[in-house]
Amino acid sequence: MAKVKTAFFCKECGNESAKWVGKCPSCGAWNSYIEETIVSKPVKSSRILMIDADKNKSQSPVKVSEITAVSESRIILPSSELNRVLGGGLVNGSIILIGGEPGIGKSTLVLQNMLRMRTRKVLYVSGEESPQQIKLRADRIGGETGECYIVGETSLENIFVHIQNMSPDIVVIDSIQTIASDMLESAAGSVGQVRECAAALLRYAKESNTPVILIGHINKEGSIAGPKVLEHIVDAVLQFEGDSHYMYRILRSIKNRFGSTSEMGIYEMNNSGLREVTNPSEMLLPENVSNLSGAAIGVALDGVRPFLIETQSLVSTAAYGTPQRAVTGFDAKRMNMLLAVLEKRVGFKLIQKDVFLNIAGGLKVNDPALDLAIISAVLSSNVDKMIPRSFCLAGEVGLSGEIRPVTRIDARISEAQKLGFETIIVPAYNLKGIDRNAFDKIKIIEVAKVEDAFKVLFN
Ligand code: TYD
Ligand code: MG
Repeated sequence: MAKVKTAFFCKECGNESAKWVGKCPSCGAWNSYIEETIVSKPVKSSRILMIDADKNKSQSPVKVSEITAVSESRIILPSSELNRVLGGGLVNGSIILIGGEPGIGKSTLVLQNMLRMRTRKVLYVSGEESPQQIKLRADRIGGETGECYIVGETSLENIFVHIQNMSPDIVVIDSIQTIASDMLESAAGSVGQVRECAAALLRYAKESNTPVILIGHINKEGSIAGPKVLEHIVDAVLQFEGDSHYMYRILRSIKNRFGSTSEMGIYEMNNSGLREVTNPSEMLLPENVSNLSGAAIGVALDGVRPFLIETQSLVSTAAYGTPQRAVTGFDAKRMNMLLAVLEKRVGFKLIQKDVFLNIAGGLKVNDPALDLAIISAVLSSNVDKMIPRSFCLAGEVGLSGEIRPVTRIDARISEAQKLGFETIIVPAYNLKGIDRNAFDKIKIIEVAKVEDAFKVLFN
């Protein structure tokens, strides 16, 4: 017989525990356990399972070669960046999760796309804003209001009533943390509710072949709030990120069952919603630059698209005992490593210096190929010599100061050439299989060690 008992779940990772614990043994989060009711059924032995299996004959396994696969049909969304990140459009019957910090523009992104869909009937369920608020936003975004129906609703059961009544082509839930089912006692946003609601929507998506878009909150550590199971349940997880003080927003794919996770889309937030940025380099490179030291242009790659980006650094004498290190847009640990390389290999006494580092445009870049540009920008500021603006760099820096090869060097060089750069500094090792004839407008300088690069830049 089923009996009701309670257990404790970690809000961050969904780990289950019989008693409350202060620190989650699975993900290390503090004070993240909450009590929830669970309905447990007695576990059946494998012998009983076998007997049961006889009674309800389910689908029998089929050989891979005998399965007839139809390629998944996709709904092409109005935003081409979003289509690309999804791997070529929204797959019918798929469930996708769009996560991001509050105010970053998740609702705007989804609403904008749904409003511009002409032929599909969309049900936009908002648990956060009233239809009037959404109307104001829709007016601001402009565009056609096609077949998009808005409802302010937080009950899962009522959402299914609406779905039943209007049989939509696409369902949007903004946001999954505000939806609750009557079946569970716990409040909306709790581990159990998020899991149950997402699972119910997943069943609906698969059974009716209707795509469902879930919008999800993100916690202060940057991962999607609610249990990790949510990320396991859905077919694709997209992360919308960017600094809300800047206009640029990046849409990244973290998981995608129907496409590659190396794609990213760039948007610009302006007065009338989000605008797609199709040529990232042009936006990331400042046009009117003064000839100052401390700036270097790196060729980064995010997903499959190369783009050029300015890295800026300021090195000044440390005013206090402990020198300051401040980084925006790049991994702080990695910068410390690069500073240590500079200190050890090139002999600069950075220990007495404050170092500030900034990646232009408020972007976060974690491509190691930016190392060479960063280390050059720091050195440039330190020796107060500017790097010519016609130079760009790509290369990973190793612990012994060696320049390591980077991925897709040809794509990087051709992007630099396209943007009119005259010289690019690349890892020597990278040039083995490269067709140099393709790059006749740009001078390629190979370097094997950081010292070589510095000789080229500062002599
Ligand atoms: P929103 O989509 O509500 O964010 P989220 O759903 O991720 O919480 O975005 C809200 C922010 O976007 C808000 O601070 C105002 C800004 N914004 C614009 O700058 N221009 C616009 O046209 C719209 C609709 C919003
Ligand atoms: Mg919102």
